[in-house]
Amino acid sequence: MFNFTFCNPTKIIFGKDQISSLATEIPRNKKILLTYGHGSIKKNGVYDQVKLALKDHVFFEFGGISPNPKYEQLLEALPIIKQNKIDFLLAVGGGSVVDGTKFIAAAVNFKGEPWELLENAKAPASALPIGCVLTLPATGSEMNCGSVISKTNSPDKLGFMHELLYPQFSILDPTTTFSLPPKQTANGIVDTFIHVTEQYLTYPVNAAIQDRVAEGILLTLIEEAPKVFADPNNYDVRANLMWCATCALNDFIGLGVPNDWATHWLGHEITARFGLDHGETLAIVLPSLLNVKREQKREKLLQYGERVWNITHGSDNEKIDKTIAKTREFFESIGIKTRFNDYNIDASLIPELIQQLQRHKMKAIGENQDIDLKQSELIYRGCV
Ligand code: NZQ
Ligand code: ZN
Repeated sequence: MFNFTFCNPTKIIFGKDQISSLATEIPRNKKILLTYGHGSIKKNGVYDQVKLALKDHVFFEFGGISPNPKYEQLLEALPIIKQNKIDFLLAVGGGSVVDGTKFIAAAVNFKGEPWELLENAKAPASALPIGCVLTLPATGSEMNCGSVISKTNSPDKLGFMHELLYPQFSILDPTTTFSLPPKQTANGIVDTFIHVTEQYLTYPVNAAIQDRVAEGILLTLIEEAPKVFADPNNYDVRANLMWCATCALNDFIGLGVPNDWATHWLGHEITARFGLDHGETLAIVLPSLLNVKREQKREKLLQYGERVWNITHGSDNEKIDKTIAKTREFFESIGIKTRFNDYNIDASLIPELIQQLQRHKMKAIGENQDIDLKQSELIYRGCV
């Protein structure tokens, strides 16, 4: 196991009826900006619960944050914050709202063009405190310090991280996820699954706990996924999926082990260029990436195949083929297609994705930094 330092400061408040705890989690003297998306929270009752909990607080609102939150739109929050002397941000929604709010928190006192936070990984000198009420389990943004932001008029989708951006608290009430459309539930399951594989399917370093927890999350997703589509209002199933998503990207399983993340970087370019959902892009890229990197990932692929999919017979290569096929089948079984063709993306457009990777300095990625532009092209070609 590699050396590591671990400090995740986010307080998690999990379960039914927990939104009311906002009343005490945010000090009464704070001026709050409540941020949200395109209205799902107004339809499913979450907005009303938040408003009730904040009845003795002063709060302003910034709604309309888009999926794959947009830089230009988020900048519009900055004058509202300055004019009203806001000193606490409360994100209510999915990963896009949480990420957008983290960006606002870092941008508000940033000297210079805030895109520098993303493009050149400039560190923010300060950030406003953030709280979160999560309504879509997927990204882990509720318990990590990352954020992914896109531009409106150019194919740019970039991430940044800073320790100031951990939410102070996140409220995870699984009943808020009953209203999710099946497509978003499925996207969340795929995103969670691939957060795990990015930290687990690399090469062995004898990190037994991280491996077992990673396998536990994958097995839980595989077991719970059919149940949630058969019975979307099943509290226990929703609770398990919600906690899976948080545990998959709250630092823990990635400690002391190599991290890959190439599926994410290649996937972000697909969203930036073609607008596919984040989960869809990952389901397209991962099977092809595992195939291209089967030698480098051999040992962990075999371990994953055996422990998660019970694949024990055949040569190593046959076992790896079966393991990749099972992974693809799982994504397809929950309604997420895994080929460019399924989304009418023509192979002739792959060079544009490669140009984007180059522009975004993604020329040596993966756990061994050996996925160059040529290999990325090979991976994209395997997605057709
Ligand atoms: O905008 P509203 O009306 O809220 O509707 C949203 C949106 O249309 C809807 N939704 C959310 N909760 C709902 C609901 N609809 C009904 N009932 C509910 N309870 O779902 C749609 C998608 O929401 P979004 O927030 O975009 O989805 P997700 O949570 O999957 O977030 C995706 C974004 O997170 C980034 C992705 O790149 C993408 O931009 N990621 C962030 C990460 C991080 N910060 O660590 C890591 C991830 O790998 C990922 O890159
Ligand atoms: Zn993701």
